Amino acid sequence: MLKKTKKVCCPVFVELLSLCLKKLTLFERALTLKSTRMVTKIVLTGGPCAGKSTILKRIKEKYEKIGWAVYMLPESATLFIEAGANFLTSDSKLLFETEKSKLQFQLAMEDYMAQIANASGKPALIVCDRGAMDTAAYMDRSVWQRIQIAIGMNETALRDDRYAAVLHICTAAKGAEDFYTLLNNKCRSESPEVAREVDDRLLAVWKGHPNLHVIQAEIDFEDKIKNVLNTLDQIIKPVKMKNLSMIAAVGQNLELGYKNQLLCHLPIDLKHFKTITSGHTVLMGDRTWESLPKKPLPNRRNIVITLDDVEFPDCETVHSIEDALKLIEGEEEAFIMGGATMYKLFLPYANKLYLTRIASQFTADVYFPAINDEEWTLTEDEFVAKDEKNEYDLNFQTLIRR
Ligand SMILES: NC(=O)c1ccc[n+]([C@@H]2O[C@H](COP(=O)([O-])OP(=O)(O)OC[C@H]3O[C@@H](n4cnc5c(N)ncnc54)[C@H](OP(=O)(O)O)[C@@H]3O)[C@@H](O)[C@H]2O)c1
Repeated sequence: MLKKTKKVCCPVFVELLSLCLKKLTLFERALTLKSTRMVTKIVLTGGPCAGKSTILKRIKEKYEKIGWAVYMLPESATLFIEAGANFLTSDSKLLFETEKSKLQFQLAMEDYMAQIANASGKPALIVCDRGAMDTAAYMDRSVWQRIQIAIGMNETALRDDRYAAVLHICTAAKGAEDFYTLLNNKCRSESPEVAREVDDRLLAVWKGHPNLHVIQAEIDFEDKIKNVLNTLDQIIKPVKMKNLSMIAAVGQNLELGYKNQLLCHLPIDLKHFKTITSGHTVLMGDRTWESLPKKPLPNRRNIVITLDDVEFPDCETVHSIEDALKLIEGEEEAFIMGGATMYKLFLPYANKLYLTRIASQFTADVYFPAINDEEWTLTEDEFVAKDEKNEYDLNFQTLIRR
């Protein structure tokens, strides 16, 4: 009797697969950017048993925590093998068709995901588990050239123009041999020697990409992960805005406010806020705008951000982070002044934090996002004691992004 098995597919990928079946229009092709200010697309490649799956998870964890949208594109060859395609066939015509289709599928998957990422309204990272050039490592140069002709794209388009960076994660078989295993991937069958050779071939096809990073195998896998995360930080640094600062007053647990009000009334902090922001631009979420007793804030350019199709009077209104960042492009210094949603959304772009650290804990329903000490240097820290007008001790701190 035949046994029927039902494979459960992730709904996002069912959607993606159906989109990929449609042909991209020329206009959609034009959206195949390697990065915009909002979307950064990178490739993770490397030989067998490089630790990519764990590394992918850690990248997702880290960037989602700081408010990014992270999209992980699965390895197209694995999807094809699981669907029944045979990359080991001796039928050269069938193999050509399989490799070409897999590449076209990969490109379409990347392009459609870029559209979704663009629409997310958040800074977004697309991480491709292998990219277009990986295909070239598994065939003769002449076949690769025929594939490029068949799909109408050359190596510059496939290698240099599509991805902001390529991270080649070396196989464990190159330096951490004791950890080389076939057990954690059912599609893997290579001996350590073959793994090293495959690793070399994969590196060779990406050579020439303007932002190629090689992550060596380490005995301690945590070190390897750290290297990847640090490299990634360097890669996406340019999207950060040198002129973008944040200013906030927080309690000891990073509390920001309660019931759309500030934590407490501290005249000395309001004066500090005024001194720092006067003459500059302040950006705020619409809930913070609503909470202001007097608006707009005088002597400042006021920009309010809302997703709703509304325009607020007495200020400039924008409807996305991208538009807000465009508005402040030429400015000397612009300030995100809250609230919690805005701090979270803009933290990845900010270069400077002005934090008033209030020496108390408060009942709160909104919090400032976690501040990673490895990313920020404390440059100023001024203690101010409480007095009859100001109920709490506090510190005026300035932090600069490393
Ligand atoms: N301690 C401090 O220094 C400080 C400073 C400022 C504010 N606060 C406190 O923070 C609290 C308010 O924070 P909050 O997070 O509730 O509000 P908020 O950040 O001021 O505004 C949130 C609003 O921004 C809009 N928005 C959300 N995502 C967006 C996106 N991707 N693009 C464009 N707009 C988007 C939404 O408005 P729509 O629904 O209109 O789309 C959302 O309701 C209050 O308690 C306030 O007192 C504290």
